[in-house]
Amino acid sequence: MIKRLLKSVREYKKPSILAPVLVSCEVVMEVLMPLLMSKLIDKGIEASNMNYVWAMGSLLLVCMFASMAFGALSGREAAKASAGFAKNLRHDMFHNLQTFSFSNIDKFKTSSIITRLTTDVTNVQNAYQMVIRIAVRAPIMLIFAMCASFYVNAKVALILLGIAPVLMLGLIIVFRYAHPIFVRMFKKFDLMNNVVQENVRGIRVVKSFVREDHEIEKFMDVNNSIRNDAVKAERAINCNAPLMMASVYTAMLLISWVGAKLVVNDEMTTGQLTSMFSYTMQILMSLMMVSMIIVMLVISRTSAERISELLDEKPDITNPENPVMEVKDGSIDFDHVFFSYSKKKEKSCLMDFDLHIKSGETIGIIGGTGSGKSSFVQLIPRLYDVTDGDIKVGGVDVKNYDLDVIRDNVAMVLQKNVLFSGTIKENLRWGNPDATDEEMQQACKIAQADSFISAFPEGYDTYIEQGGTNVSGGQKQRLCIARALLKKPKILILDDSTSAVDTATDAQIQKGFAEYIPGTTKLIIAQRISSVENADRIIVIDNGKINAVGTHEELLRDNEIYKEVYESQKKGGEE
Ligand SMILES: Nc1ncnc2c1ncn2[C@@H]1O[C@H](COP(=O)(O)OP(=O)(O)O)[C@@H](O)[C@H]1O
Ligand SMILES: [Mg+2]
Repeated sequence: MIKRLLKSVREYKKPSILAPVLVSCEVVMEVLMPLLMSKLIDKGIEASNMNYVWAMGSLLLVCMFASMAFGALSGREAAKASAGFAKNLRHDMFHNLQTFSFSNIDKFKTSSIITRLTTDVTNVQNAYQMVIRIAVRAPIMLIFAMCASFYVNAKVALILLGIAPVLMLGLIIVFRYAHPIFVRMFKKFDLMNNVVQENVRGIRVVKSFVREDHEIEKFMDVNNSIRNDAVKAERAINCNAPLMMASVYTAMLLISWVGAKLVVNDEMTTGQLTSMFSYTMQILMSLMMVSMIIVMLVISRTSAERISELLDEKPDITNPENPVMEVKDGSIDFDHVFFSYSKKKEKSCLMDFDLHIKSGETIGIIGGTGSGKSSFVQLIPRLYDVTDGDIKVGGVDVKNYDLDVIRDNVAMVLQKNVLFSGTIKENLRWGNPDATDEEMQQACKIAQADSFISAFPEGYDTYIEQGGTNVSGGQKQRLCIARALLKKPKILILDDSTSAVDTATDAQIQKGFAEYIPGTTKLIIAQRISSVENADRIIVIDNGKINAVGTHEELLRDNEIYKEVYESQKKGGEE
């Protein structure tokens, strides 16, 4: 997993190596300073040798500036490396996300994808910066300072060696307690993101159902429980400071006591004693840092796992080896097709679809909600792959086409369709980037969108807000149809795409299809019989099976379901 993530370091290898090298130089300087200091005191001040004081003092200054410079430079490199690493991670994740098929997307929740791209990457970025800087600094500092203190005075250094494990043990106990709380807290952040996202997305529904109080309550629940955990975790972590101070002062006291005796007995100099104090600080500080890094790494491990999950997800629909690059015509053949969303074949969503549609035919599709209409048509542009059987378009198995080719030739207006923020023209050009103004107008005329677009003060340059919130449902549907028409597809699929359009306009759209794109195979899913009654054939889908196929008249005569739907709609119309 770590290896997988490190692949994304790429062009930031240089700063990633420079940062730890520079930090090591910084540590060397820092450990050198107390040594020089002790020399300055012993040979300069004690011996009243002013020249020596000046010489050592200057050297100390040089060391100090060098250490500052190394520190600043390593900080800069580490920032460069970690920010760049994070950028690459986000890039790689987003890149992989674009290859996902519908079923890949079904697997990850939207909110979880967003958390992975944002919070999780930030966690890993912080951890990375820590690893290349502090995780190098702390152990080197520990070892060097330990060695230096033994070099100065082994007896006193033993005191340090005794206190260090006690502090370590204390820190371990604290973190053992805090760690699970942190892990739990991060999971709750996920949950909170989910609540917020769902709420913002459905804010109109929330308002119309007056569910604000309920939503606030739901949010407060997560929010409060995050607070409780944060308090608990921070309270535990805050024990570190007193623990650290207690160790430092105990060490100082012991060293003063033992050191004073040694100094009196001339076994140690005053300078050496002062340097021991500095090493005490350095050693205990680095111990504390080591333990903090361990916690940080454990916390960010969850994030790293979640990132690599997204990076490693393989699209389950990919291009074939030698893809067919041309779709001959708009004929569609279903040969005993079975389909289910989950790999576990418990209950198929579509069962034994056997169907042959000629190029240029208009096919109506009727069926209750959840009967499998959307699933059926999504198989044609290979948005999902069949579980069993096969589908041919233009006489060739859809799995043998280049993905872009088949999807360009099979234009589909999805049931849950979206417009993107941008002008109407920009949205239409999704269908064909090179479409001329005339072509756009033509497509909009067929889709009965031209009249309302022209009525906007800015016409085709009207700005569509994110999610198309500033056009009505029916207008949005007509824009989506026009966008699909601009692809000049061989097969056009409308999944309940005129549900919000009035009956008269709907009839004109159907008429437009017959008139302007007679050669295109049209599959029209609808709730209203009037949307499909003029189709060449109508398919009745019930409970994942084809119940009947025939013309309006045939079905009205022979099919119970169709008759029932027709009667209920006629009654509704008469009332
Ligand atoms: N992405 C999906 N993952 C799992 N099950 C799904 C998914 N989409 C639809 N289904 C299920 O498949 C069945 C058929 O759905 P669908 O084809 O959307 O019906 P229709 O379009 O006729 O209303 C339903 O039982 C639905 O719950
Ligand atoms: Mg549907």
